[in-house]
This record gives sequence, structure tokens and C-alpha cells, in this order.
Amino acid sequence: MLETFRQLFGSAEGARIYRAPGRVNLIGEHTDYTLGFVLPVALDLATHIAAVPSPDGMLRIYSQQRRELREFTAAGIPQRQPAHDWTDYPIGVAVELARAGFPLAPANLLICSSVPEGSGLSSSAALEVASALAFLSGRAIDPLDLARLCQRAERNFVGVPCGIMDQYISIFGRRNSAVEIDCRSLGHRFVPLPESITFTAVNSMVKHALAGSAYKDRVAECAAAADALGLPLRDFSPSQFESKAHNLPPLVARRARHVVTENARVADFVESSMRGDLARMGRLMVESHRSLQNDYEVSCPELDFLVDTALSIDGVYGSRMTGGGFGGCTVTMLRPDALPHFQQQIVSAYEARFQVTPQLYPCHPSPGAGEGPANP
Ligand code: GLA
Repeated sequence: MLETFRQLFGSAEGARIYRAPGRVNLIGEHTDYTLGFVLPVALDLATHIAAVPSPDGMLRIYSQQRRELREFTAAGIPQRQPAHDWTDYPIGVAVELARAGFPLAPANLLICSSVPEGSGLSSSAALEVASALAFLSGRAIDPLDLARLCQRAERNFVGVPCGIMDQYISIFGRRNSAVEIDCRSLGHRFVPLPESITFTAVNSMVKHALAGSAYKDRVAECAAAADALGLPLRDFSPSQFESKAHNLPPLVARRARHVVTENARVADFVESSMRGDLARMGRLMVESHRSLQNDYEVSCPELDFLVDTALSIDGVYGSRMTGGGFGGCTVTMLRPDALPHFQQQIVSAYEARFQVTPQLYPCHPSPGAGEGPANP
């Protein structure tokens, strides 16, 4: 990474490198923006940024993935408007940092990422958090404030009304552990996962155009449900909700039913994990997927096919779509020794059906963002 930096900017002297991970969400999907519960894991796939202060008042950002260098006047950052491309993530963060009292220092930045873009593994939050650390360049900020600041960058500058999950887990991830986040209190607890299982993400390699607009629709539908019910959705148990659901328009009721039952599944999954009840964990993942497929309607044929195929393979406990949906990845819970056979089966079935080779990413729960070693 430093060699590339040298080639781009002449010297890498004094370079600092920051790392922020992507994530896979085990369960608790589309519950964060209604203040519910989520259970993500930070991955060893991460975005790395190398940064060196620049003497000429400019901010230069090179994206290795895009092979693109962009230049900005550092002093003009607070007035910038979105460009509707990849630079909106770092620039949105720089704008929010300036607003929060951390004005941008001119710098040269090199971004390298192993988080596949558009895969539902949160490449956006990884880029936001790594950018924030690079811009802060050692200036101290409370980690929770940092997560909220990066979320604001995505909401205000990128224009996606996202919840807090992705930025939060990228900062608070922990080795060998999932993290249960309460999206209202913004507290969390670490959930160690049973050693006899492993998780793998499978990338459908598609991202349907619907993803952005449908996400906004779901946020609005959930807000309508909470308004009509007079309480946040997370304050309903499934049976309390069913006794009130008839007051809601049928579509809104289905959306809210997903959220209410999904919150209950997160609690159940965490308890089952503590007890080592692998079969129940697997069943909860499948129920989550069916709820996202039928009630929340954010799945797609490719994801449904990956889930259904996974469930027919020996050694698999459960499988579900993960992330925003309409493409991206599934996450599958399985016996570690079943992984090679699973990989071979799922790849050949998916290729036969869609003429596309899906990528697999074994999920190794990893630490949250920080100043760290370079990507090899
Ligand atoms: C995206 C958003 C998150 C969350 C998930 C769905 O990843 O950024 O805030 O809403 O979708 O669970």
C-alpha cells in the first residue's frame, strides 16, 4: 500500500494507515432505523486509508478500486455539495467533521478496500469510518459520536436515510464475537458465538436498481406504522402487535409485522447462541429470511435461490439474506467441516441457474476500526 502511495504522491514519509471493517449482519434486518435490535459481526474485509498531511492546502483522494484521483480545496469543504459518486462518502464525512468542530487538514489519501462494493457487506460505512479516522489524524473523538457522525454523513450528504448499524459495528466490532446493538439506547453487548459453527457470506453478485428507493419506502412505511400505533415498533411484542395490527392498512401491517417479529428473533437468537442451541439459531435465520421475503419484500430471486439451495446442503443450520436486500449477500450458518462441500455445491447450483459465479467470504469476527497495519 505504501509503495502505491509513493508512486502516486512522491513520498510516503509520515504516512498513517487507518482500517475500518465491513460487516455481516447475522440477524435483526431492517430494524435499526426503527430503534430496534441488530446482531452484526465486523469482518476481516476492510477499507484501509493511508494519509499524509499535504503542504499545499489541497485534499487529494485516490481510490485504488476506481483508479481515480480527485482533488478538493481543503478550505472549501464545508460548502461542498454532493457529487453523486464515491467521493460523497469521504466528503460527506469531512463536512460533518467540520460541523462538529474538526476542520479538515489538507492531506493526500490513498483508499484500498477488500469490502466488495454493492454486496450488502457495508462497504459504505467502512469507507466513511476509515475516512473519518484519516481526517481526524489522531484527534480524539468519542467512538459513539464518531458512529453517529458517519451515519449523519450518509443521511445528509449521500442521501440514504440509513440506521446506525453499519457505522456502529465498523467501530465497535470485536474479535470472535457478534455485537448485539440496541439502536435506541445505542448500548451494546458482545455475544460470543458457539465454536462448533461458522458463518459464510455468499455474494449473489447482483444489486437491483430498486434498492435505494425501496429502502426509503420501508423507512416511511415503518414510520407510518409507529405513528398509527402511537409507540415505536420495538415496544411491541409479537402478540401485542397482533392485537393492534387490524388498525393498520394491510401493507403497513406486514412491514411492521416483520420488524416486530425480527426484534423478537434477535433476542431469541442471542439466547439460543448462549445455550448452544444451534438448530434453533438456524431456524430463526430462516424465519428471518421468510419474513424479509414475504412481509418486508426486500429479497429477490437470486437471494431466495441462494437461501433455498443452502438449506438443502449437508451441514447447514440456517441461511438468510443480509444487509439492505435486493441483491448483495446471504449469510449461512454451518459446520466448519462442511464449508468446502458447501462452497462447491452452492457455486455450481448458482452458476447453473444464473450463469454467474457467486463469491464466498468466510466470516471471521474481527475488531472494530482503528489505526492499523497496512493491507498487504
Ligand atoms: C443498510 C443500512 C443499515 C440497515 C440495513 C438493513 O445496510 O445502512 O442501516 O438498515 O440496510 O438492516
